[in-house]
Amino acid sequence: MNILGIETSCDETSAAVIAETGDVARPWAIRSNVIASQVEIHREWGGVVPELASRQHVRDICGVVEKALADAQVGWTDLGAVAVTQGPGLVGSLLVGVSFAKAAAAAAGLPIVGVHHLAGHIESLVLHNGELPLPAVILVVSGGHTSLYLVKSPGSYELLSRTRDDAAGEAYDKVAKLLGLGYPGGPVIDRLAKQGNDTAVRWPGTRLTHADRNAPQLKGDLDFSFSGLKTAVLRHVTLRREQGADLGEQEIADLCASFQRVVVKTLVERTFKAAMIHGARSVGVAGGVSANSRLRADIKAYGEAREIPTFVPDLTLSTDNAAMIAAAGLRRLRAGITSSLDMNADAALALGS
Ligand code: KG4
Ligand code: ZN
Repeated sequence: MNILGIETSCDETSAAVIAETGDVARPWAIRSNVIASQVEIHREWGGVVPELASRQHVRDICGVVEKALADAQVGWTDLGAVAVTQGPGLVGSLLVGVSFAKAAAAAAGLPIVGVHHLAGHIESLVLHNGELPLPAVILVVSGGHTSLYLVKSPGSYELLSRTRDDAAGEAYDKVAKLLGLGYPGGPVIDRLAKQGNDTAVRWPGTRLTHADRNAPQLKGDLDFSFSGLKTAVLRHVTLRREQGADLGEQEIADLCASFQRVVVKTLVERTFKAAMIHGARSVGVAGGVSANSRLRADIKAYGEAREIPTFVPDLTLSTDNAAMIAAAGLRRLRAGITSSLDMNADAALALGS
């Protein structure tokens, strides 16, 4: 079966066609994956402007879906279902994809499957690597989320922890902004950090010891927090500017490397702590920040030292894309789950506990 996936939760309009392979170890193959990025529109504002994002999705969605079908060399009659990101995300953006998917599914007489955006990121690992050894601990780390999930069986996602404040990608974007490096910050900091001394400034990582009052069901010790680090960078830079320093290229590179060292160390150590606690047979990292070169290298090295296989998605599948949504949709469809045509976008859709 072929499935059409649609993703419009933030600032990428994406459509993809995924085919089932019949191979249980590598269940899905990408036939097309089209992404229209809005990054140039939002760069001017230093971040995603929700209203501009939803308007641009309206402009792009028809052409992106047509291209995804053309690239895959399929027509509507070759599809078995339509999968779409139902949430979480920006509600105006989500609504464009959900409305389009509902109309297309109704017109073509196809079942529709609403997909959680983070289930999509988790399944991007399977799309690229094949089924992972289970149980697996998966770190989903993006501009909107930093969460650990335990996958005990295919398609089940148990929330172990999440950030109490900023997501790691958000911290990258905010630190880049205060250093005047533009948007999105992750790729720029990643690049500049390669030239920097990562112990130039020794900011501490954050360790949480108590459960969050807002999420008493989680123990809390595996939670993340990045807003303190972001503020520490801000205070450092403000102080340097007050001292009359004109931050040069090398100092900026050192700050990027020092910031990145703390973020990556925290992400890697907490992920493996969770893996040890839950007896994981593999570890995965997905979401936009999984494109980070240091995170990819460090998680692999950490896993090799502990003999736990680690997985990351291909770079094109790290950031938002519809191929991962189609894959997660197929997983749900094969588990007998479909949505009804009165499904709605849900900006705060929950996954796991
Ligand atoms: O998954 P994604 O495309 O969208 C969300 O669901 O948020 O993630 C986007 C985030 C941004 O914060 C961006 O700065 C970050 O991923 N990012 C990176 C890198 N590439 C993208 N962060 C660190 N290093 C990178 N190479
Ligand atoms: Zn995402």
